[in-house]
Amino acid sequence: MARHDQSAEDLALDRLPKASLNRESLREALSLYRYVRPYRWRFFSGLATLVVSASLGLVFPLFSGALIDAALRPEHATVPLLGVVTLNQVALLLAVSVTLQALSSFNSSLAFNRVGQSALADLRRDCYGRLIALPMAFFGQRRVGELTSRVSTDIAQIEGGLIDALPQLCRQSLFLLGGITLISLTSGRLTLVMLGTLPILIAAAVFFGRRLRRYSRETQDQLAATNTIVEETLQAIASVKAFANEAFEQGRYDRANTRVLAAALSAARWRAVFVAFFIVALFGGIVIVLWFGAGLLQSGTITAGQMTRFALYTIFVAGAMGQSAELFTQIQKTVGATQRVRELLREPTEVGPMAAAPAPTGPLPSRLEGAVAFEDVSFRYPARPEVQVLRGITLAARPGEQIALVGPSGAGKSTLTALLLRFYVPEAGTLRIDGRDAGTYPLGWLRGQMAIVPQDVLLFGGTIAENIRYGRPGADDDAIRAAAGLANADEFIRGFPEGYATLVGDRGIKLSGGQRQRVAIARAILKNPAILILDEATSSLDSEGERLVQVALDRLMQGRTTFIIAHRLATIRNADRIAVIDGGRVVELGTHDELSARPEGLYRHLSSLQFGPGETAA
Ligand SMILES: Nc1ncnc2c1ncn2[C@@H]1O[C@H](COP(=O)(O)OP(=O)(O)OP(=O)(O)O)[C@@H](O)[C@H]1O
Ligand SMILES: [Mg+2]
Repeated sequence: MARHDQSAEDLALDRLPKASLNRESLREALSLYRYVRPYRWRFFSGLATLVVSASLGLVFPLFSGALIDAALRPEHATVPLLGVVTLNQVALLLAVSVTLQALSSFNSSLAFNRVGQSALADLRRDCYGRLIALPMAFFGQRRVGELTSRVSTDIAQIEGGLIDALPQLCRQSLFLLGGITLISLTSGRLTLVMLGTLPILIAAAVFFGRRLRRYSRETQDQLAATNTIVEETLQAIASVKAFANEAFEQGRYDRANTRVLAAALSAARWRAVFVAFFIVALFGGIVIVLWFGAGLLQSGTITAGQMTRFALYTIFVAGAMGQSAELFTQIQKTVGATQRVRELLREPTEVGPMAAAPAPTGPLPSRLEGAVAFEDVSFRYPARPEVQVLRGITLAARPGEQIALVGPSGAGKSTLTALLLRFYVPEAGTLRIDGRDAGTYPLGWLRGQMAIVPQDVLLFGGTIAENIRYGRPGADDDAIRAAAGLANADEFIRGFPEGYATLVGDRGIKLSGGQRQRVAIARAILKNPAILILDEATSSLDSEGERLVQVALDRLMQGRTTFIIAHRLATIRNADRIAVIDGGRVVELGTHDELSARPEGLYRHLSSLQFGPGETAA
């Protein structure tokens, strides 16, 4: 039978594209069998008990028929293998078979669920591991929300396929084949009548099923549109309120919501028709068969027991046929879901953290000196290959130097630091670290030597102590306190009633911009990197907050090669060198004094905008 009421998740699953079932796609799906493999014995035991339980199910009408015959025409009450039986003997047989059927069903259900859930846990683990190991370029090309929902719906579909559809398919196939075989042994003519009524049922199931799915999908699409509105408005809730646009958003939502309702009601109409038809067809079919059978009974061609047996088999077969369309759709969708999951599992990852680098590596120092050299580096983002972001950047930093990167928005400053972190590989040119091509270091090791304090610090849900410890997992509480002290964060953290155990993130306290930055600085101090990247770390603070952060940063920069991206030029006057980036090139390079002295220079222009023309050389 089709599903009559669908939950939101079912609807989401409904939208999954179906794969055409061919040899190729089936082979793809079967290749996920390796997740079942470790649990195969339990899987086969589930399968075996399923066959036992289905066979006992098929025996049930036989015994029931014999029961009737034992009452009405004892000489006809026969059971295969045992011959003629009495009423009580049949009742006992029935009781035993029902008990065995219950036990075997229990075992097969448990086994399939255990195998399925264990295999899915492994699959989820692999998918997650694969996702976080994918290169940044992968995330640039896809929307993360879409990716996560895709993985979760696909895995839910595989779960349904493995735990429900597959065992059901086995069971229903056995019922169908066994039922038809056993009926035809009873009466060939009745079998023909029954088989004659079934194709109509199947055709109708397919017809209505298609209609229903179309409207379900429509509903789902409209629902997704309303969810997008909710997401967008909640993300920008401060803007919605500041512009007093609640009514506008409510109107937008209402219109989308009305469309959901309309689609859902169309679907509901078809579903109701479908249900009504199915009842007419199923029961009508049974009535026809019973009517015909009753005629045979009247003329004495068959016994009442045979008639009972026959009616029960008809119900079995009709039930199996009715489910086949739904099951087939389920299997198709599962195959589709496995294809997409396999695509994900096949995506090439970054060279795994701590894995050997591709080129010969040589012995690794315990710590980098921190010499960084960009040599004629060019780069385009894989997601936007038509835009040349960096065009032949040459820039070197000696160990411990502070290099400031300034320039207009979109010039390529953050991109340069992304290359340094090896989120991306240069398209041309070389990045050398301590004189060695950066590509020859193991990726995880190299990143372990660097730290970044981004402008917009995102803290993980958890305590403040845990967030600082992210810089060096395993660091003890004293080390965390010391780092927080150097970062000027200790004081405000102690000011909270729960101190370092204060929860931050979604369900915790919300730290101010400057406080979050100081937590990020403490994290970086704890990591003790050789190379440091500060992306506009002081841009959004008041002067007191800025002073606290600046002092903390000055401590952090001590003895480390630092790249500072700054829009506020006051913060970088003391930098060893300032590189002015424009249009993906280094257009000026020198100290604050040197660059300020160039009358036509971009740096002088930028600083005159910030300090006024008279103050540029100050
Ligand atoms: N992940 C990305 N995928 C595609 N293009 C990107 C990506 N990140 C940045 N870009 C593009 O690369 C160019 C340089 O961006 P980048 O972030 O390096 O600029 P920026 O100098 O840091 O600017 P700002 O000072 O505003 O932070 C921009 O044109 C930007 O649109
Ligand atoms: Mg930037």
